[in-house]
Order: sequence, then structure tokens, then C-alpha cells
Amino acid sequence: MPQTIFSADLTRSNVNLFLTSGIMHHPPKTYFIRTYGCQMNELDTEVMAGQLQKRGIVPTDQEESADLLIFNTCSIRDLAERKVMGKLGQLGRRKKRGLIGVTGCMAMAKKEALFRKFPHLDFVLGTNNISDLGTVLDEVLYTQKQVFKTEDVYEENLDYLAAKREHSIKAHVSIIRGCDKFCTYCVVPYTRGQEVSRSAQDIIEECKQLTDRGYKEITLLGQNVNSYGKDRPEWQCLFHDLLAQIDQIPGIGRIRFMTSHPIDITYELMQAIRDLPSLCEFVHFPIQAGSSRILKKMHRIYTKEQYLDKVTLLRKTVPNISLGTDIIVGFPTETESEFEETYELMNQIRYSVAFIYAYSARKGTPAMRWKDDVPEEIKETRLQKLLELQDKIAKEERGSFLGHTVEVLVERLNKDQIHLKGRTRCWKKVIFKGPSSLVGTLQTVLIEGSSHQTLVGNLHQM
Ligand code: 5AD
Ligand code: SF4
Repeated sequence: MPQTIFSADLTRSNVNLFLTSGIMHHPPKTYFIRTYGCQMNELDTEVMAGQLQKRGIVPTDQEESADLLIFNTCSIRDLAERKVMGKLGQLGRRKKRGLIGVTGCMAMAKKEALFRKFPHLDFVLGTNNISDLGTVLDEVLYTQKQVFKTEDVYEENLDYLAAKREHSIKAHVSIIRGCDKFCTYCVVPYTRGQEVSRSAQDIIEECKQLTDRGYKEITLLGQNVNSYGKDRPEWQCLFHDLLAQIDQIPGIGRIRFMTSHPIDITYELMQAIRDLPSLCEFVHFPIQAGSSRILKKMHRIYTKEQYLDKVTLLRKTVPNISLGTDIIVGFPTETESEFEETYELMNQIRYSVAFIYAYSARKGTPAMRWKDDVPEEIKETRLQKLLELQDKIAKEERGSFLGHTVEVLVERLNKDQIHLKGRTRCWKKVIFKGPSSLVGTLQTVLIEGSSHQTLVGNLHQM
């Protein structure tokens, strides 16, 4: 097993050359980052790409031959981890390979144990240490040893302004990292640490720069954006205050946010959605389960009734609001009738978007102490039932758009190379025919049909 060091332990005066994987590594010229999981990971990838490009390392789309290969990983469910493990295992069998690093949630969940399983790995960098990527790379190259840095608390401000953005029309802006909610099934509080808000000044500066560079849509990101500012009461700037400031930026396009915990969705936020012109009428409002007993066991800190009351208030305040949700089926001890409550609730609320998952037991979470007692076949049946229901609801919703006009932000040419593709304010995908010069503009589209999950229309002639 190759020797492993903490980056903090590096003693440059006494380096013994110990090859991490039998391969002598040279400074990389090209990099490839494979990203798994959520938008937070996508943004971290963009920030890492910015740091690498500042060092003159250029991106390549040839994963196989990249001098530096980074896996920015996800731990949320077992399948997400297995995909990366499979890939890492395959790489170990290659005779020729560049530097290999693991970042993201798996880096935090497994830390240096990853080196035992994958001796050919060169570095492991945690979610709170993205800003140390350059130093860690230097350490690996200088010592030719495996290096890991996985601190539990996020402290260092990231250079978001240098991020290399994937898109040119829409961008993610981080406003808070980490999560303090500790839902019993979830690894995020352990892999991303406690909540740390970013200063409003930095956020506004980044939003201004993006707007000046022509970005038309900004999604404010956090595991729970509604907690914004609660860790820094002296700032006297909560989420709705921040939104009001961002809305004032001259020329700002659309603003979205992702994701929310229902308990922190306040009336002030609902009013902000109603009153601020830039803020889109879509809220991701994850219920997770329809039974109050299961919600309690999940430590969601609301009952079904409290959740429904908030939905009623939100719909009363913003009548044209669209809702999204996340749902977990087969949580330990979930009975058939409790599952039926989730089904009924989905039928009643009629979400526009629902991400539905089968429960996956995660090491280190409180739910691990309960037996994962809902058989996999039953989880699968429940999952399919909800997917079918959601499919039906979404189809009916798409039907309700027929003959109506919607405002579309044109994001790009569609894959078929014929249509343009964009989204409505309420996050519905729309395609329509038009010249590519319309990319980045707002267009009014008359909806005439739908295909798969997408509305199909034509440019509305006024
Ligand atoms: N098993 C299944 N789904 C999970 N999620 C989080 N942890 C688990 C788990 N252990 C889902 C939740 C969350 C979404 C991002 O992933 O629904 O909102
Ligand atoms: Fe996980 Fe719950 Fe935090 Fe969401 S609110 S990231 S589900 S612990």
C-alpha cells in the first residue's frame, strides 16, 4: 500500500520519493472532470475547472487520455457510489494513466479509506477543501505520494468569479453551503458539513458580473437556501432580504432558487415570489413522505397537515406558482397504508415536477439503526406507482397549456437541430422553431402540443 499523507503534514525538507501508484507523475497539461449528483457538485466542478485553467491546465473531452482525471462524486444513494467505485476499479487495471483524484461527497464519506480500496488513486479532496485543489496537486507532484484533505468545516471562500461556466445563458450561484437539518436518511450534513452562508456582498457582486457578461438566469444554490443568513444573525439579511437586493441589480434576468426545506419557507418568501419581478414562480418544496409518522421518523420537523397548510398559503399568495418535490418510498417501517398517504398527497397537490427515490440505507446516518425492512420489490412497486401517477399529472398539466402563450427563455438549439429549447418561468421545457439568434432572449410562444416531457409551440406573432 503506497504511503499516504495529510496535506497539512507535508514536510518539504524531508521528502522521500514514493510513487503513489508505480507511475511517476508529471505536471498535468490536460484535465477531465466527471461530475455526479446535484447542482452543487456541478458548480464545484466549474470552480475547480476555473482553478485548473488559471494554472494553465486545459480541458480535454478525452477522459481516457487526460493527464488529470477528477471524479466529483455523490453519496446520496448507494447506486451513485457504486457507479464511481466501478469506474475507479477499472482505472486501476490500466497500465498508463494520469493523475486520479476523487472530490465531492464520497471523498467526505470515505476519506482515506478510498486509498485502501483504490491504491492507484492520487488524491482525495473533500467538499470543504475545493479551494485547496492547486496545493494538493502540488503536493502530490512534489512528494509523489497520496494526499488527502477532507476537513469537516467549510471556511475558505471559493473563487467563484473564476469559475468556468458550462452554460452561457444560465448560471448557478452558491449562497449557502452545508445543511443543519439532519434528516435521518441523509448523508449531506456529514458530507457537506454545517450551514455556512456566503456574504450578500459577494453574492451580489457575482450576480452583477454574470448579468454584465450576458447571463439571463441565475439559480441561487444551497442545500437549504431558506436558511440563508440564520448562521449570521449580525448580518440581518435573511433569504427574502437577499432576494430583494438581487432583484435590484440593473439588467438582472430571471432568478430561481434550489433547494428548500418546507419548514423554512416563510410568508416573507412567498411575498417575495409574488412581488419581485425577477423571481420565477416555481418552488422546489420537497415533502419526502405523505405520512406524519414517517415524516417524524425522517426528522423532517413538520407534519403532513403543517406542510399542506404552507402549500395552501403559498398558492393563495402566488396563484400561478408551480411546485416541485422529492419523495422517498420504502423508508424503514413504511406500511402500505402510509405509502397510500403519499400517493393521495401527490394526487391532491399535483406537483409539476417530482423526483421519486427508493430509500437507500446510508452508512453513518441515524436511519441505519433501523432495519431496512421494506423489501426491494415493494420499494420498486411503490416507486413505479408514484412515477405513473406523476406522469399522468404532468401530462394533464401539459394539456392545460394548449392554446396558451408562455414566456420562454431560449437556452440553446435543441438536440434535433431543428427547434430551439428553453424553459418557462415555471420551469416547463418548451421547444419551438426559430433562428439560433434567439438564444439568450425571452420569447412568447404559443403552445400547440407536447412531446415526451416537453411542450411544443410556435413563436407567437403579435
Ligand atoms: N435514500 C433515498 N433517497 C434519498 N435522498 C436523500 N437521501 C436519500 C436516501 N438515503 C433524496 C431526498 C432528497 C434528494 C436530494 O435525495 O429525497 O431530497
Ligand atoms: Fe439532506 Fe434533509 Fe439537509 Fe435536505 S434538508 S440536505 S434531505 S439533511
